[in-house]
Amino acid sequence: MGKLDGKIALVTGAAQGIGEAISRAFVENGARVIMTDVKADQGRALASQFGDGAHFIEQDVSVCQQWKDVVREGETVFGPIDILVNNAGIVGVVTNTLDFKEEDYNRIIGVNQNAVFFGMQAVLPGMLKHGGGSIVNISSIAGFVAVVGCPQLAYVCSKFAVRGMTKHVAVEYGDKNIRVNSICPGYVKTPMNEDALDEAGYEAVNLIPMKRFGEASEVAKLAVFLASDDASFITGTEHIIDGGMIAC
Ligand SMILES: NC(=O)c1ccc[n+]([C@@H]2O[C@H](COP(=O)([O-])OP(=O)(O)OC[C@H]3O[C@@H](n4cnc5c(N)ncnc54)[C@H](O)[C@@H]3O)[C@@H](O)[C@H]2O)c1
Repeated sequence: MGKLDGKIALVTGAAQGIGEAISRAFVENGARVIMTDVKADQGRALASQFGDGAHFIEQDVSVCQQWKDVVREGETVFGPIDILVNNAGIVGVVTNTLDFKEEDYNRIIGVNQNAVFFGMQAVLPGMLKHGGGSIVNISSIAGFVAVVGCPQLAYVCSKFAVRGMTKHVAVEYGDKNIRVNSICPGYVKTPMNEDALDEAGYEAVNLIPMKRFGEASEVAKLAVFLASDDASFITGTEHIIDGGMIAC
């Protein structure tokens, strides 16, 4: 028996990396998954590998108007959404605060932060109607600390905000059986950062007590747990998965 048998999930940024791993783990655990991404061909090809358990929809999560259509199509295909994973994210421009351009800042905030608000707002009515749900927002250890030598002002802002929004919505809807939690990964090898980790990998790995980078499948196991009824009394919390990196 799967931990998510009978559940309907929506996972954003599902064409690769952590979103791909979460979608795969959800399907393996019995969920049917609406996978969305801006990378339509890649996402569609992946969803077709998952068979009847997955349906792909092209979506730019930073565009508020697209969310209603995505939820409508997803619910038409599979039924009421029980689980939302706000995973899509970008690193964007990495530069000193003095050099950060307004449009670059706004783009990162749009995808990493505003979209999490849009996503929660889009699924909440259905969850309220159907008696509950579980939302998992992907933040980062950059939602706890700034990284030495890695100037990412907007990324850090956005990931702190995701933790904050998670707590806010968890508190607001706790009595409606809607749980909201965040996952805060450290360095995980995915297409987002594999080039950076290859270049700086040796140095970065020394910052991690476990002396290795994480796997997307390890983050996916945590997402399955938080999304499932096994986590029935867990809400408003953040879950660091970083090999001990920010413990020191
Ligand atoms: N990999 C890491 O080390 C790490 C660490 C901490 C947090 N995270 C977070 O995990 C999440 C997933 O990251 P990943 O490492 O799998 O990255 P990734 O780049 O491999 O995958 C991200 C996916 O999001 C999609 N995406 C980007 N912008 C989008 C948009 N506007 N609308 C819809 N989809 C969009 C991309 O097309 C891609 O498929 C992100 O929120 C990231 O910030 C990653």
